[in-house]
Amino acid sequence: SGPPVEPFSLDFYQDPHPTYAWLREHRPVHPMQFAGVRVWLLTRYADVRAVFNDPRMSVNQETANADFLAAGLDYGSGTEMVQALLFKDPPDHTRIRALASKVFTPRRIAGWQDTVERISNQLLDELDPHQKIELQDAYCYRLPIMVIGEVLGMPRDDHRKLRQWMDPLVGLSREEALAGTKSMMNYVRDIITAKRTDPADDVISALIAARDGDQKLTEDELVGNVFGLVSAGFETTASLIGNALLALLDHPGQLRLLQEDPALMDRAVEELLRYDGPTATTIFRFPREDVRIGGSVIPAGEPILMALGAANRDPEVFSDPDTLDVRRDDNPHISFGRGIHHCLGAALARLEGKIALRTLLRRYPDIGLAVSRQQIRYKSALIVRGLEELPVVLRPTP
Ligand code: HEM
Repeated sequence: SGPPVEPFSLDFYQDPHPTYAWLREHRPVHPMQFAGVRVWLLTRYADVRAVFNDPRMSVNQETANADFLAAGLDYGSGTEMVQALLFKDPPDHTRIRALASKVFTPRRIAGWQDTVERISNQLLDELDPHQKIELQDAYCYRLPIMVIGEVLGMPRDDHRKLRQWMDPLVGLSREEALAGTKSMMNYVRDIITAKRTDPADDVISALIAARDGDQKLTEDELVGNVFGLVSAGFETTASLIGNALLALLDHPGQLRLLQEDPALMDRAVEELLRYDGPTATTIFRFPREDVRIGGSVIPAGEPILMALGAANRDPEVFSDPDTLDVRRDDNPHISFGRGIHHCLGAALARLEGKIALRTLLRRYPDIGLAVSRQQIRYKSALIVRGLEELPVVLRPTP
């Protein structure tokens, strides 16, 4: 026997949890075929956490076995993309991360609160509250694009282009993804050139200053990591906002609790990250040597995927894991990863999530779906879990 629905088959995405539950219980280290390659899918919290902290695990796609590379599952090869933190192992990772952390500090991020609030309000001002609105695009996406564009120091007129280039990355066509990546890289190079002569108070200028000061980043690393910030920063956050909103609309009692006590927002966002977080899986890991996980031995170079959405509902760690509880206080969810690759932008993502929800729910407390619940679909995408569309009416006429 096997899981009720094959992981990553077309039907899986609408409700992955029965499959995750079966795998956690019966086959926590699951060898599966993905694009013709054997991939090991991990669903238990303890195993996932152990892999995050295991120095034998590499994220460098060159350490993958020949099958993985032959299937074209590698991402951004031949572009500066592979210089991004997410694809680097120590010691390079350590050096670049130290520099990026100096620029992307909690203090700097906290200073962006007003920016995020202004952008949320501005986007909502543009919407007709009585019309049906596709909120995923009009708000959930636009907000993080405008925020990341602004804090990085990209001209406002260019924000739309970012979306155009990034969109294909989450689709499945390798050619489209590569074309988008290349256009984006050229754009990032041009911006860097412009900021060298005309620096401002923004993240790109700060990264340039840090790099040019100590010669600690190569030019390709600089380009790859600016790209990395954009790509890591908006699809995930857009999906957090959309998934969170849908979860609250699905649970009117929880939504009411949050509306009656806005001080619950911090906990609520953690719970929404756990309950239906935007990172279904991590990027691939490749063991440098044969490793034993649970009862299985994973041979060197074979790709491992960690299902964060499954780990976040592991009953060994969370009580009533399938229940959305905005008051949950003991919540060590793993949606931002762990270990050396722990999300660099977690504080920004949390800030955006909180402000996006708070502003929307404060201005439009009666927001509701504009279609039946069955019509809402999740995208079929491996890493980022998010909605295709979220049609709502902000102020339904009673
Ligand atoms: C890494 C989640 C938003 C920047 C990661 C990882 C996860 C994650 C799970 C680790 C992946 C792995 O180990 O395979 C999220 C979620 C977000 C979010 C759930 C939104 C809700 C952001 C934002 C930024 C950002 C807004 C920056 C603007 C990064 C970077 C890394 C990363 C640079 C790589 C860090 C490293 O490898 O050292 N994120 N992220 N993320 N994230 Fe995020």
